[in-house]
Amino acid sequence: EASVQQMVEEIRELKREKNAVILSHFYMAPELQVKHTDGGIADFVGDSLGLSVAAKSVEAANIVFCGVRFMAETAKILNPGKQVLLPSFEAGCSLAESITGADVRKLKAQYPGVPVVAYINTYAETKAEADICCTSRNALDIARSFEGDRLIFLPDLFMGRNLQTRIKAETGKELILWEGKCEVHEQFTSQRINGLKMMYPEAQVLVHWEVPDNTVADALTGTGGVVGSTSDIIRFVGESQTRQFILGSECDLGATLRGLYPEKEFVVPCIKCPHMKQISLQRTLEALRAIGTEAERNFEMTIEEEIRRKALVPIERMLAFA
Ligand code: 13P
Ligand code: SF4
Repeated sequence: EASVQQMVEEIRELKREKNAVILSHFYMAPELQVKHTDGGIADFVGDSLGLSVAAKSVEAANIVFCGVRFMAETAKILNPGKQVLLPSFEAGCSLAESITGADVRKLKAQYPGVPVVAYINTYAETKAEADICCTSRNALDIARSFEGDRLIFLPDLFMGRNLQTRIKAETGKELILWEGKCEVHEQFTSQRINGLKMMYPEAQVLVHWEVPDNTVADALTGTGGVVGSTSDIIRFVGESQTRQFILGSECDLGATLRGLYPEKEFVVPCIKCPHMKQISLQRTLEALRAIGTEAERNFEMTIEEEIRRKALVPIERMLAFA
């Protein structure tokens, strides 16, 4: 079996040969997050919003997406003329799988005229039914921007409740929610976070919007902390005077934080996203080797054109929002 270094070198070589770039999410294993300019494989590393924006400006003919399927699909929706390859189609997402386009049509029939905000963690046929998309970074601002007293937010129940807490207090607006859950973030119960807070009483708590709503209240009590997106968490640590943090998010974000802030200490209950972890150096290498061969179709993202065009509308509205 090839060593990590050999695989990294071959991937770097193949990217050049096959005119490909690699986009990598913050939840990837550390070896997939090292930037090309630092001797690694990633041309861009980011959260889901950052990766969507980056996907729009890629010049290479091929995008290899080190992330999960809904992310690669979003890149393809934005770049129909490019080939988008996903190293493993097993890389799903419990949120994206919790809802279909037909489910959204039923909701719209039940609540006529109520705007639909779809989290980016959905598949194209779900996005195709939405008015606007959002990621964890812009969800609060997008939800606030709508007039009217009701809004359908889907599919993340906990994130919806967390947004509701803020929005109801500000505007009285009511969110109509779906029952999707992130199988990683739902495990950050208030009991788990409170136990760690007892053990590390000086630490600030960092939690993603997708954790249960009662966890958020407990997390922010006392020494404080942040509830937000992956990049909100990264920024908060950089700006905080505190040295020690408890992370309530995907395990490998802990490695990213340690790399960025070596002087700070992170307590990380290690819960990995099984979908994100389908992507490895070996599979990324295989996807690159396949470009221009018969095997390419095993990695290629394809979307039916009518669905793609419909799903593009709410994504572009989101990108224009900023
Ligand atoms: P971000 O939008 O923060 O990158 O989150 C992606 C994700 O999958 C969260 O679980
Ligand atoms: Fe989906 Fe949760 Fe994994 Fe993110 S961490 S890809 S929301 S299952």
